[in-house]
Amino acid sequence: MARLVVVSNRVAPIDDKKASAGGLAVGLMGAMREAGGIWFGWNGQVSTTPTPLRMQEKNGITFATLGLNKRDYRQYYSGFSNATLWPIFHYRIDLARFDRAEYAGYLRVNTMLAQQLMSFLKPEDTVWVHDYHLLPFAQACRAQGARNRMGFFLHIPFPAPQVAATVPPHRELIRTMCSYDLVGFQTETDRQAFLDNLRAMPDVTVDGAGVVHADGHATRTGVYPIGVSPDLIEEDAIEGQEHSRLITRNVRGGRRKVIISVDRLDYSKGMVERFCSYEALLEANPEYRSRVQFIQIAPPSRSDIGSYQQIRKQLEAEAGRINGKFSDLDWMPIRYINKSYDRPTLMGLFRNAAVGYVTPLRDGMNLVAKEYVAAQDPETPGVLVLSMLAGAARELDEGALLVNPYDRIGMAEALQQALDMPLRERQERHAAMMRVLRVNDIDAWRNRFMSDLRQQ
Ligand code: G6P
Repeated sequence: MARLVVVSNRVAPIDDKKASAGGLAVGLMGAMREAGGIWFGWNGQVSTTPTPLRMQEKNGITFATLGLNKRDYRQYYSGFSNATLWPIFHYRIDLARFDRAEYAGYLRVNTMLAQQLMSFLKPEDTVWVHDYHLLPFAQACRAQGARNRMGFFLHIPFPAPQVAATVPPHRELIRTMCSYDLVGFQTETDRQAFLDNLRAMPDVTVDGAGVVHADGHATRTGVYPIGVSPDLIEEDAIEGQEHSRLITRNVRGGRRKVIISVDRLDYSKGMVERFCSYEALLEANPEYRSRVQFIQIAPPSRSDIGSYQQIRKQLEAEAGRINGKFSDLDWMPIRYINKSYDRPTLMGLFRNAAVGYVTPLRDGMNLVAKEYVAAQDPETPGVLVLSMLAGAARELDEGALLVNPYDRIGMAEALQQALDMPLRERQERHAAMMRVLRVNDIDAWRNRFMSDLRQQ
């Protein structure tokens, strides 16, 4: 059987229990556990001298990793990937910058990574590339002679043409994606946005099945909403439940209902709007004061980028303001925490929380929403309040309370409905969501993508 080589910017820590809240790491770890193969990418280290490729084997997976030098990190990772593509693909053109040198660095690192891959790639290997850091990766490999089957999956949204056009080299960049054999997206909306971008190009045709033809090569497209492993999450949740109860006992006191949110500290997650909606709930319903506890866990992310420093300051100010306004001697309305926790602790916290509050302004999927559902006790489940602008809303619409993350009052009303929801309704909604999570779990996601890729 052909080897599977997974390529992603960040390779998760080999000790997977410590994996942070990032969706890509969590999703891929489940996928690789069964498939074996090689996982190739950046080891997360920035060094002054070049670091050679390092191969380490663990549980049937070979981790092939290398470091980035400071310039590569600045231009490729902090620059074009996270200060241009990330904001624009999340429809935040107001936060994006474009810098030619950073774009050149992005292309250079893609070429360098392709060279490294070529040093161990065998002709029959299948290559599965992940996320926006690596849009031109297949083209860079093809330029060096790779004829392997290559698939790409985008974990984040894909922008409509008018939005994509704010990346100056958008045509050239999107065109490079035609070097893949299969390109997958989280939702049909994202796939259509990609095809709409290509339809506008004179030398590209898109046929009725969504296959893109360019330079005599065909690229198929598909929708593969990423899933989770409900059984592993339940195991973690049961393991972490007691510990989580102990660490939150003083906030619960046996009578306070917990509203929980866990996000990387990122402006796309809608945390300011979320804090303000909670303020609106306390404002309009004084009877909830000291009877609910909102916990926001937000480990810092990409903190050398200005927009991330700004959102952090803004959240500190909002949390401080709201806490100052409503706190009492024995109650603080928001616990705002800038550190990460291991997965059993997080899943245990989810299981103990009455409401999972997941309200990104835009999100490819949002695995926290799915994890919250899978971590619940089916007898006494909590309620998921979910942004309609997260990819997960397409699948969880039967069970979650969907909200518009820009509508603070609407969100406050949904929180109220969630906090007061009768047990029977909670069980029914939870069961409906669990059916979806079980059918489209992480294994189903990987198998569908891989079988489509191998079928070419
Ligand atoms: C998102 C992206 C991933 C990324 C993760 C963590 O989930 O889709 O590609 O790995 O965030 O971000 P970081 O910049 O720390 O890798």
